[in-house]
Amino acid sequence: MLSTSNKKTAVSVGSAAGLCLLLLLLLVAAQHHRVQVQDDASAAAADAGTRSLLQDAAQEEHTKKGFSAYFTKLTRARREVEKPGRSSAYGADPPPAEDIGADDVFIAVKTTKKFHQSRLNLLLDTWISRNVQQTYIFTDGEDAELKKKIGSHAINTNCSAAHSRQALSCKMAVEYDKFIESGKKWFCHVDDDNYVNVRTLVKHLSQYPHTQDMYIGKPSLDRPIEATERLGDNKMKPVNFWFATGGAGFCVSRGLALKMSPWASGGHFMNTAEKIRLPDDCTVGYIIESVLGVPLTRSNLFHSHLENLQQVSRTEIHKQITLSYGMFENKSNIINFKGAFPVEEDPSRFKSVHCLLYPDTPWCPPQVAF
Ligand SMILES: *[C@@H]1O[C@H](CO)[C@@H](O)[C@H](O)[C@H]1NC(C)=O
Ligand SMILES: *[C@@H]1O[C@H](CO)[C@@H](O)[C@H](O)[C@H]1NC(C)=O
Repeated sequence: MLSTSNKKTAVSVGSAAGLCLLLLLLLVAAQHHRVQVQDDASAAAADAGTRSLLQDAAQEEHTKKGFSAYFTKLTRARREVEKPGRSSAYGADPPPAEDIGADDVFIAVKTTKKFHQSRLNLLLDTWISRNVQQTYIFTDGEDAELKKKIGSHAINTNCSAAHSRQALSCKMAVEYDKFIESGKKWFCHVDDDNYVNVRTLVKHLSQYPHTQDMYIGKPSLDRPIEATERLGDNKMKPVNFWFATGGAGFCVSRGLALKMSPWASGGHFMNTAEKIRLPDDCTVGYIIESVLGVPLTRSNLFHSHLENLQQVSRTEIHKQITLSYGMFENKSNIINFKGAFPVEEDPSRFKSVHCLLYPDTPWCPPQVAF
């Protein structure tokens, strides 16, 4: 049997981003693998009926087998999502609907104080360095070093540093309010393990007028999420909706964001999240798809660490909008390309991606051939 701490590790690896997706997958995995868990007679005898679905799934996740099964599931979901006619990505570039620039986009990066050193500095040294004007860091603690680097673009949300549903929703609520306050045309949310190619992001968004209702991102499931809406008088209502995985990044037009206000502004976002008891990214999907009836526009150019990043085509890395990286039991989930730096020097591959996109960066090796 696994120790409690091992279970915790398995859960926290996946929940670094896209908590919503993870919870779903764990439930699915728990259902799929219950038979296997019960094969272990002593485990079944000791714990029968006492372990939660989540713990069973976490144990399964802990094994290599569980990990590959998990990727198979994601791959299937991805193939589903990539079916022709359901995606706007990889096609010929349609003409721009609106002439926007990077200044029209508000990019919210969600982080936590614990990751300022290990994750945020990499972003500050790479993509954020070229996009300071439109990037805002939403964190949960004061950091004098960070303030020195980006001043008022470092926003202490005063939310809890716990990786709980409430703390995540608290940060999303502040992101939403700051975006509305900014007056910018597009709101984009990413996590602190995302590389954002702002040029392709802006190009992609320019296909749509910001005054239209647009919700753009990538779902990681092959079906809508099923949730329960808590109405007054102890009444419950089942709801189904698609949501874009937060860990891959997603964007919302200003036109749509303004319509979300009654459910998202001030303290309302947290109330809405409590009503369906789901994390931040699911709550965004709920407000947009379920409440407002606006469908998610899928793009395969967004990538989270919950998908198999090896599948990102190495010749199309420069075309992606977001990238990510992850680690599971010392095995890294990273994009597969040669790049300017070896994996030992650049485990996330973000430095190499940055040198591909901005070869004039002083710390990039000269004359890099890919
Ligand atoms: C967090 O608290 C500080 C100190 O009270 C305050 O100045 C700041 O505006 C708060 N942040 C937000 C996003 O409300
Ligand atoms: C991961 O790598 C570290 C350092 O090489 C090692 O101490 C640890 O046992 C490894 N963990 C697993 C689960 O392989």
